[in-house]
Amino acid sequence: MRVCMVGTGRMAIAHSRALEALPDVELHTVVNPDLARAAAFAKEQGYLATAPTVEAACASGGLDTVVICTPNPLHFGQSATALRAGMHVLCELPLAMSLDEVETLGGLADAADLRLMVCHTERYEAGRIELRRRVSAGELHPLQILARFHMLRRGHMATAQAQHSWPDNALWHHGCHVVDAIMDIVGPHEPLDLSAHFGPASPGLGTPLDVSLNWRAISPITGEEVLVTASLSHNAHWGHHDYLVLGREAALMSSRGELHNREGVIVERPSSSPSGVALQDAEFVEAVREGRAPALDVPTILPTIRIVQAAWDVWLKKNRD
Ligand SMILES: NC(=O)c1ccc[n+]([C@@H]2O[C@H](COP(=O)([O-])OP(=O)(O)OC[C@H]3O[C@@H](n4cnc5c(N)ncnc54)[C@H](O)[C@@H]3O)[C@@H](O)[C@H]2O)c1
Repeated sequence: MRVCMVGTGRMAIAHSRALEALPDVELHTVVNPDLARAAAFAKEQGYLATAPTVEAACASGGLDTVVICTPNPLHFGQSATALRAGMHVLCELPLAMSLDEVETLGGLADAADLRLMVCHTERYEAGRIELRRRVSAGELHPLQILARFHMLRRGHMATAQAQHSWPDNALWHHGCHVVDAIMDIVGPHEPLDLSAHFGPASPGLGTPLDVSLNWRAISPITGEEVLVTASLSHNAHWGHHDYLVLGREAALMSSRGELHNREGVIVERPSSSPSGVALQDAEFVEAVREGRAPALDVPTILPTIRIVQAAWDVWLKKNRD
C-alpha cells in the first residue's frame, strides 16, 4: 500500500511512525504547499516524493491511500479530492465541520467503494478499552458522565499541542472527541433534551472558546438512562481531558489512556505496547486490505456528528438573531 501523507506536523509524524511499522506499507508522497518543508519532512520520515497539493499528489499516480493531518477546516476539501481521485482516506478528527459535509464524504466513499476512516484515537487507548469492556459485560452501569476537554488558552500556549497557528473550533474539534467518547462508553444513541451553552466569540476566531453540553442518553447497552455533562474549552490555564463515569457499581475516571477508581490506577497507560495511533492505523490498513468497512467509518460517527451539528445550530441561531 502506497501512502500519501498530507501535512507535516505533529500528527503526520505520529502516523508516519505507525504506518511504516506495518508490513507492505510504503511511505510514498508527502504534501505541503511549502515544498521545502515537504522535502525536509520526506527526508526525516522516509518519504520518496513531495507534492504541493492533494490534487497534484493523486495525479502523479501510483498511490492507494491518503492520510490527512492538516488544519481542521481543510479536512473536508482534501478528503473529497482524494476520494474523487479513487484513494482510500484516513482523516484526522474532525472529518469535516458540518453534518452535510460528513454525509457528502460518506456518499463519495460508498459510491466508489473506498474505505474512509476518522481518527477517534482515544477509542484505542487501554483505559478506554477496559471501561468499554466493563459496560458491555454488565459490570458497570453508568448513571452519569462528566467529561472535560480543556486545552490551554490561545495566546498563552505552553505546549506544542496548543501551538496551532490555524483557527481551531472548540465545538467541532474538542466536541467530536468528547461526544464520540460518550458514544463509545454508553453506546450509540440520539440525545434526549440536548442543551448547548456558549461563551462569547473569540475576537480572533469568531467562534466560542468555551462550550457546555448536556443531554440524557438511553444507553443501548444497559437500556438505562445516563446524564451527560461535557465542558469544552480552548481557554484554560490548566489542561484536562478526562471522563468521570459515575456508575451504580463504581465511579471510574478515564484519562489520557489510564483508568482509575478511588483507590488508584486500574489500567496504566502502557509504555511498551502499541500506541493508540498504531492500533488505529493498523485497523485502517487491515480494512483496506480486506475490503471491509473500517471501525470508525461515517455511519459509526454519524450519531456524534448529529449532536455536534445540533449544538452548532444553537450557536449559529444565537449569533444570527
Ligand atoms: N486523533 C487525535 O487524537 C488528534 C490529536 C491531535 C491532533 N489531531 C488532529 O490532527 C490534525 C493535525 O493536527 P497537528 O497537531 O498535527 O497540527 P500541526 O499544526 O502540527 O500540523 C498541521 C500541518 O498541516 C500543514 N498544512 C497546512 N496547510 C496545508 C495544506 N493546504 N496542505 C498540506 N498541508 C498543510 C502545516 O504546514 C502543518 O504541517 C488536526 O486535525 C487535529 O485536530 C487529532
